[in-house]
Amino acid sequence: MSMQGVQGEEKVELTKAEAKRVRERSLRLLFSLIAPVKNRLWGSLVLVVSSQALRVVGPYLIAVAIDQALPQAIKGNWTPLYVTVIEYLGAAISAALLIAFFLRYAQKVNQDIMFDMRRRLFRHTQNLSIEFHETYTSGRVIARQTSDLDSIKELLDSGGNEMVAGILNMLFTGIALLLLDAQSFFILLVALVPLYFLTIWFQRQTRINYRKTRVASAKLIVYFVETMTGIRAVKAFRKEKRNEAKYSELVEDYRSVNAKVIQLFGIYDPGLIMIGNITVAFILFFGGSRVVDHHLGIGVLVSAIFYARRFFDPMENLAMFYNAYQSANSALEKISGVLEEQPSVPEPANPIDLAERKGHLSFKDVSFAYSNGKQILPKFNLDIPAGQTIALVGTTGAGKSTLAKLIARFYDPIEGRVALDDVDLRDLRDSDLRKAIVMVTQEAYLFSGSVADNIALGKPDATREEIIASAKAVGAHEFIEALPDGYDTDVNKRGGRVSAGQRQLISFARSFIADPTVLLLDEATSSLDIPSERMVQRGLQTLLKGRTAIIIAHRLSTVSIADRVIVMEHGEIIEDDAPATLIQGTGKFAKMHKAWRDSLV
Ligand SMILES: Nc1ncnc2c1ncn2[C@@H]1O[C@H](COP(=O)(O)OP(=O)(O)OP(=O)(O)O)[C@@H](O)[C@H]1O
Ligand SMILES: [Mg+2]
Repeated sequence: MSMQGVQGEEKVELTKAEAKRVRERSLRLLFSLIAPVKNRLWGSLVLVVSSQALRVVGPYLIAVAIDQALPQAIKGNWTPLYVTVIEYLGAAISAALLIAFFLRYAQKVNQDIMFDMRRRLFRHTQNLSIEFHETYTSGRVIARQTSDLDSIKELLDSGGNEMVAGILNMLFTGIALLLLDAQSFFILLVALVPLYFLTIWFQRQTRINYRKTRVASAKLIVYFVETMTGIRAVKAFRKEKRNEAKYSELVEDYRSVNAKVIQLFGIYDPGLIMIGNITVAFILFFGGSRVVDHHLGIGVLVSAIFYARRFFDPMENLAMFYNAYQSANSALEKISGVLEEQPSVPEPANPIDLAERKGHLSFKDVSFAYSNGKQILPKFNLDIPAGQTIALVGTTGAGKSTLAKLIARFYDPIEGRVALDDVDLRDLRDSDLRKAIVMVTQEAYLFSGSVADNIALGKPDATREEIIASAKAVGAHEFIEALPDGYDTDVNKRGGRVSAGQRQLISFARSFIADPTVLLLDEATSSLDIPSERMVQRGLQTLLKGRTAIIIAHRLSTVSIADRVIVMEHGEIIEDDAPATLIQGTGKFAKMHKAWRDSLV
């Protein structure tokens, strides 16, 4: 995860065509999210329109009550007043109920949209090829799944509902005022001018400062995550003090941009209140003179004032909405980018079934380079008959792991083909490929869960007997039994923590139970001590029986169980023969082997 990743992303300038493409893909995503909930969105629109329409009835009824019903009551006829009061109550209660329904309903729709997006993003990111994950840093993947989704959620949760309700409220209030008293309406129109400028200023300032807060908080998170994931290196090099100073600096930046945002509200809110009050004062003054001249009813004046006051209520939310909208929009653009990434090792359109898995591997004129373009394998040819055990050796960076990754189809070759039993790997279903070819690496990752769960990963429907049998086969049974809860020990709990070597044994058992045709071991025994390695070698022989295997190891002890040794250098095979022949020769391997033997005594 790198700091540049976060900053770089903020800076990218897009060409017009690219910007258009980005807009289109985020619209596509938006429509695909809305499509399943379309009917319910219409439903919530109906609810919100009717609730806001009912709300503007209130002040109108007050005018009716004061100007018409009240004079009647003074004359002794109370009925019109009763009726108007009941109508007023009825309108208020139904508006409140409708708003309650609307909020609950819209909330549910939003939750479904979020759920859908979260799930899609997870599934898609997980399915992308290794190549994507090597270039798209984990920090960015995390940002998509957390802060980006959050800003969309924020928009949906508060912004969206409030914006629709707010706009409708202003619209209906304006219309009602126009119908009730045109002069007051024009005063309100005049007030829109300063309101407009104030709001534009506020929006621009908050946009700039919100962006700064997001950048500052992203830096904070990245720094935090980097420190904690590298905590061992931090401790080993006593970097704590320096980190602390750096972190305090970042926190201070974050605090000061947040303080700026708060100051902006400190100007906008009072400004809004002032404009509202001045508008009311004007309406009161001009309306008042008309009341004196008997051109206007007192009731109408009172309700005009109500309308004018209410008109400004949603303003702050609306101004904020625009910001929420902007950040949600950029989040949507980034998420749609990830969702439109295609796996670089795609599933075949017309897969070929493996008639019988034998395990014959072949490289035909394969050339390969990683995404940076540097060629690692130039025109590589290799044929491995079914059932052969190969020891692959060579200097660091020779391309051994790359070879294994091509066989496991983490990548596709640029030219030529890699085939299993004469079927191009690109024509195999991913599920078939994963069943046939298993790669065990040095990392031997364990997921949270019990030891048994971790072994059963290789065969999800495995019985407890099969799990134990596979652990026995690779020599892992004894230490597992000695764990606090045996096979049910949680590998991530205190006491369940296993050593690097024990992790490798568990991952051997995992591959044994998977029963693949081809097994790739990349430095898979490197964390074992010599006695354990000897033990594993016995286990290995069981593990390798009847399979094609490629063992990459720096320790040459594995060579004793290999049928054939391949020595690689700079992406090419420089020696390839039976171990005994190579050892007796004068080549690179003979030297390596001699050096290794000498190191043992
Ligand atoms: N993901 C990657 N992106 C770009 N280049 C890579 C990547 N992985 C490996 N390389 C480069 O490919 C070359 C071969 O690497 P590879 O990991 O295959 O070597 P190796 O023989 O397994 O070495 P080692 O014995 O140290 O494990 C190296 O020069 C390395 O820098
Ligand atoms: Mg390697």
